[in-house]
Amino acid sequence: MPHITLQGQRALVTGANSGIGKAVAIALAEAGAKVVVNYVSSEQRANKVVETIKKNGGDAIAIHADVSKEEQVQQMFKQMIDAWGSIDILVANAGVQRDADFIDMTLQQWQFVMDVNLTGQFLCCREAAREFVRRGVDPKLSCSAGKIICMSSVHEVIPWAGHVNYATSKGGVNMMMQSIAQEMAGKKIRVNSISPGAISTPINTSAWNTPEAESELLKLIPYQRVGKPQDIARAAVWLASDDSDYVTGTSMFVDGGMTLYPGFREGG
Ligand SMILES: NC(=O)c1ccc[n+]([C@@H]2O[C@H](COP(=O)([O-])OP(=O)(O)OC[C@H]3O[C@@H](n4cnc5c(N)ncnc54)[C@H](OP(=O)(O)O)[C@@H]3O)[C@@H](O)[C@H]2O)c1
Repeated sequence: MPHITLQGQRALVTGANSGIGKAVAIALAEAGAKVVVNYVSSEQRANKVVETIKKNGGDAIAIHADVSKEEQVQQMFKQMIDAWGSIDILVANAGVQRDADFIDMTLQQWQFVMDVNLTGQFLCCREAAREFVRRGVDPKLSCSAGKIICMSSVHEVIPWAGHVNYATSKGGVNMMMQSIAQEMAGKKIRVNSISPGAISTPINTSAWNTPEAESELLKLIPYQRVGKPQDIARAAVWLASDDSDYVTGTSMFVDGGMTLYPGFREGG
């Protein structure tokens, strides 16, 4: 199989200074794309990702923006387009958790997670789609006018007690992704999600960083290993490439079988 190439394409990855976003940014750059490494709080970690990409022979810039703020998102896209002329790939990855029992969940905890995980993806997808429509297909780069990848979660389908805000935001991401995909397909814009299972990143350290926690977690994962950010990055490269040209409106579960209801292996 020929190696996937994204040569000449320009990608923006939100929340790319950590975890999954960082691995996606590095993998897209390895496939030949120039990458905007978006961050909100740690410029230093974003600059390190840029350095890593450049050391590997790629091109990247770090751009600050809080994805939940319309003006900041628009400014980030303007900066990218001023620098590189356009955008070909958006990975709307930035996400947060603010966990609480349902009856104790504050409006602030609910709203914060919605603002970043759902409104943040809406704002970034809209800006990317506007630019894809303006520019149209450039057959030298890709047979599609643009690719959007939303970072969802297995919790777009698995209810999650203690995380009502998070699971609801990801359920929303799924319907948003499908509706945008339906609306934009005629413009040759592809829109898909990746729905990771348990991936070892800073967002969920306590779920995997002790042997006891890991063994509890593995009960939920038929494939019997915790995922790595690179598992998601490889899926993102494929969804961003013309190899997946006929794929739109799909949520790709990369979860070691977490959505296979492992509790039903015995009995049921
Ligand atoms: N890890 C998992 O098991 C798992 C499973 C399913 C889905 N996911 C999803 O994967 C995505 C990445 O999560 P992760 O596990 O890689 O977590 P992570 O390591 O905590 O990374 C989260 C990233 O989001 C960024 N971010 C947070 N708020 C932001 C905002 N308002 N504007 C811009 N960036 C913001 C953070 O930037 P700063 O560091 O600059 O604050 C950070 O780069 C999330 O959407 C998450 O829901 C993760």
